[in-house]
Amino acid sequence: MPHDKIIRQVGDYYTEKIQTHGASAQGVDWNSVESQFLRFQQLLKVIEGEESFSINDYGCGYGGLVDFLETLGRSYRYTGFDISEAMILRASDKHGDRKNCSFVQNEEDLKGSDYTVASGIFNVKMETPVEDWMEYCLETIDKLAKLSTKGFAFNVLTSYSDAEYMRPDLYYADPCFYFDHCKRKYSRWVSLLHDYGLYEFTILVKKDTSPPPPPPPPRAGGGGSKVPITPRWRGG
Ligand SMILES: C[S@@+](CC[C@H](N)C(=O)[O-])C[C@H]1O[C@@H](n2cnc3c(N)ncnc32)[C@H](O)[C@@H]1O
Repeated sequence: MPHDKIIRQVGDYYTEKIQTHGASAQGVDWNSVESQFLRFQQLLKVIEGEESFSINDYGCGYGGLVDFLETLGRSYRYTGFDISEAMILRASDKHGDRKNCSFVQNEEDLKGSDYTVASGIFNVKMETPVEDWMEYCLETIDKLAKLSTKGFAFNVLTSYSDAEYMRPDLYYADPCFYFDHCKRKYSRWVSLLHDYGLYEFTILVKKDTSPPPPPPPPRAGGGGSKVPITPRWRGG
C-alpha cells in the first residue's frame, strides 16, 4: 500500500480523536495521562545525562511531551511534528508561546536535532496488511535515525500481548526483530525496554559517536593467558 495513503488514513483517525476529546490523553488515543507519561519516561531514557539538548517529537499530538519535559527541569529546544493539522493547531494553542518550542505539519520543516522520539505512531494500522505496515514502520524508523545526531527512541505494541486483548486493527510487533534491526543498522548501543507494565516495548538507540576502542596490546611471554582456567565458582 502506498505510504501516502497510510499517512492519510492515520491522520484522519487521529484528527477525529482530537476533535472528539480535545487536548487530553484520550484526544491522542491513550487510556490515561499516567500511561502517556510512563511512555515519555521510557523514551526519554535516551537523553539520560544530558542537561541541555534539542529534541524532535515525531507524531507529537497536542504536544503532551512538552508538559512532561517541563517537569524535568532541563534546558531543551523542542520541535513537534504531526501529520494531523488539527493536532498541530491544538499543540500551537497550548504551547505556542514557549520560545523553545515550535510545531510543524510539513515533514520538510523538521530539522535535525540531537534526539528524536516517537510515541504511539506505529500502533494503529487499521486495514493495512501487516507486511505493508512493517515496511512503513522501517522506513519511518529510518527517518527518525536520519533526523538525530545523538539518538532516537520509539515504542510499539508488543506481540507478547495477551491474545484475548489483541485487536485486528492494531499492529503488534516482535520486539526482538526491532532490536536486531536497530542493532545491525544503526548503532552498537541499543536498548529494548519491555518491563514497564504496558502491552508494548520501547527501543532506545544511542548513536555511537566515540572512536572505536584501540586493539588490545600484544601479550608478553608468548601469549599465555593470565586468566585462571578454573572458574571461581568451582573453588578457584
Ligand atoms: C498515539 S498519538 C500520540 C501523540 C503523542 N506522541 C503523545 O504521546 O501524546 C500518535 C500521534 O502521531 C501522529 N502520527 C501518526 N503517524 C505519524 C507519522 N507517520 N508522522 C507524523 N505523525 C504521525 C498522529 O497524528 C497522532 O497525533
